[in-house]
Amino acid sequence: MMSQKIKTAVFPVAGLGTRFLPATKANPKEMLPVVDKPLIQYAAEEAIAAGITELVFVTSSSKRAIEDHFDRNFELESTLEARGKTDLLADVRGILPKGVNCVYIRQPEALGLGHAVLCAKNVVGNNPFAVILADDLIDDNDSGCLSQMTALHAEHQCSLLGVERIDPNDTDKYGVVKTAASEAGIGKIEEIVEKPKPDVAPSNLAVVGRYILSPRIFDILEGTGKGAGGEIQLTDAIAGLLAEEDVLAYEFKGRRYDCGSKLGYLTATVEYALKHPTLRTDFLEYLRSYCLPAK
Ligand code: G1P
Repeated sequence: MMSQKIKTAVFPVAGLGTRFLPATKANPKEMLPVVDKPLIQYAAEEAIAAGITELVFVTSSSKRAIEDHFDRNFELESTLEARGKTDLLADVRGILPKGVNCVYIRQPEALGLGHAVLCAKNVVGNNPFAVILADDLIDDNDSGCLSQMTALHAEHQCSLLGVERIDPNDTDKYGVVKTAASEAGIGKIEEIVEKPKPDVAPSNLAVVGRYILSPRIFDILEGTGKGAGGEIQLTDAIAGLLAEEDVLAYEFKGRRYDCGSKLGYLTATVEYALKHPTLRTDFLEYLRSYCLPAK
């Protein structure tokens, strides 16, 4: 088989973001900032660092801010230029490097993650592709989780899911996999279930929002009915894929922040602020004084 590089990433961003209401009533949850960048930009940067050149956003009517974010803003740019704000200008212009294209597809109804991915079928075509869920923010202090996964894909040429060990009481928040004995954090998936209750979960190895999928998933998704929560689940289609092709679970290196939850989002904000070159010192000083018991 000819080795196929991953060139396309799908970003399902049509979800309603109910866990962050009212903040997400008119603003997409993917535009929530962690320090000074929206979640979707971290996700796009991770994809671009992995060599992805086609960014496919599956959006809905309330998500126009995402398109604007990745588009030029001539008024802003000319104002920054006129005021000599060259660093800010470079930040704004550099959001999307040359050679990277964005495609926006509407998901007309919120029918689930599987349905959102299926909406990208015609754009992705018959090629393996990545899926990134922007509310799982992953910091690996290096070139990014997706880079780790595209390197593995180059070696194994099969579908791959990013996974991590979770608290066994939390299995009903995730897709959960059972793998054959794994070596170096990579195991062949034998079973995958969406949001199982802890007493029936096959393990505590949870899928986080990073996938590399074979295009065969689209045919399977077309025949996938409603699953957990009454939605068309990507997990159920992956369960179908397992019967035909190898799918590997990969325990990626790095720290994941569940920015779909308030606590995860706040944790990411604090930790990214503590790494931020110009904020770090002052913020650390503030945190120390805030946390010290009053004398
Ligand atoms: C989705 C997937 C789930 C996965 C999770 C990772 O669930 O359906 O399998 O484990 O993302 O964040 P959601 O968080 O959208 O309910």
